[in-house]
Amino acid sequence: EKGTYPYYMLKEIDEQPAVMRKLVLKYQDEEGKLSIDPEIVNTMMDSDRIYIIAAGTSYHAGLVGKKLLEEMTNIPTEVHVSSEFGYHTPLLPEKPFFIFISQSGETADSRQVLVKMNELGHPSLTVTNVAGSTLSRESNFTLLLNAGPEIAVASTKAYTAQIAVLAILSEVVGMEKGLIDEPTMIHDLGIVANAMQTLVDEKDVIEELASEYLSITRNAFYIGRGMDYHVALEAALKLKEISYIQTEGFAAGELKHGTIALIEKGTPVIALVTEQAVAGHTRGNLQETRARGAHTMVISMDGLDRPGDHIVIPKVNPLLSALVSVIPTQLLSYYCSLHRGNDVDKPRNLAKSVTVE
Ligand code: F6R
Repeated sequence: EKGTYPYYMLKEIDEQPAVMRKLVLKYQDEEGKLSIDPEIVNTMMDSDRIYIIAAGTSYHAGLVGKKLLEEMTNIPTEVHVSSEFGYHTPLLPEKPFFIFISQSGETADSRQVLVKMNELGHPSLTVTNVAGSTLSRESNFTLLLNAGPEIAVASTKAYTAQIAVLAILSEVVGMEKGLIDEPTMIHDLGIVANAMQTLVDEKDVIEELASEYLSITRNAFYIGRGMDYHVALEAALKLKEISYIQTEGFAAGELKHGTIALIEKGTPVIALVTEQAVAGHTRGNLQETRARGAHTMVISMDGLDRPGDHIVIPKVNPLLSALVSVIPTQLLSYYCSLHRGNDVDKPRNLAKSVTVE
């Protein structure tokens, strides 16, 4: 039940710190170490390439998951949109391992890929919020999100839980492969939960920014590089699906190769700046849009912040920054949709689980 919350989406955004803590507990063994079914770990270690298959927000979680898996397990990983992969399957290596990411576990686009990969005999894991769902039943292995039911059509806590599960899985496989000396994920996800809490407690500030930047515009941009680009894609999807503002998530460096032509006086451009190596470049790209009249906003990470930044997220393990930087973007979407008088939980033209191809 949503209790005193006006919409499930806000409740589900607020639940994220607790979801992180619960996940860590769920995946801990009696000794307090993270643990994953050894059969999953061994099958992954035996694989020469991981394929993440998903749609929508779950695809965006997969983009972050690729980074986590490659950094911690050293296994090359690709991420594909399920509706594209099934009928245009790339050349596969000898031992591919498939990870299906799906909140509902019912997405038809993802299932058609699973059916084909099952026919080819390739092993698969489903990361889902729904025990006993179709994808869970039809794949070899399942890891649950344990996020509690997600009712709002716009996915929030499932996205962060999906990333957290992939982070846990990556560390366990990395440990098993001897690539990681000291596990830090339990600690790091605890820091993430606290950082999320700080941000959900800053709703007033974010609501104010939503009114100032997004109340009358017809279009908007989120920009970033690397991990911040992945979050920009998710932030843009969230804003368009519940506010109906045409929004693009864009690689900051790619703007100048064409898309900057769309910037007009007052166009909102929101930059995500959480990665040291590219922070200056992203800020430079944002400045180029401001020089063309854009109404610019910066969401940065503590340590990389500059005076005038609008939202500064607490410092976390940079590999996990998406878990935290996404929170203000979820809240911006929520308040924007609310202020526009939309049905936040049930946006037009959308269904919670998409069971047709
Ligand atoms: C966006 C959203 C959708 C889903 C997509 C995949 O907020 O909810 O983009 O992420 O339809 O759904 P699942 O994860 O159930 O496979």
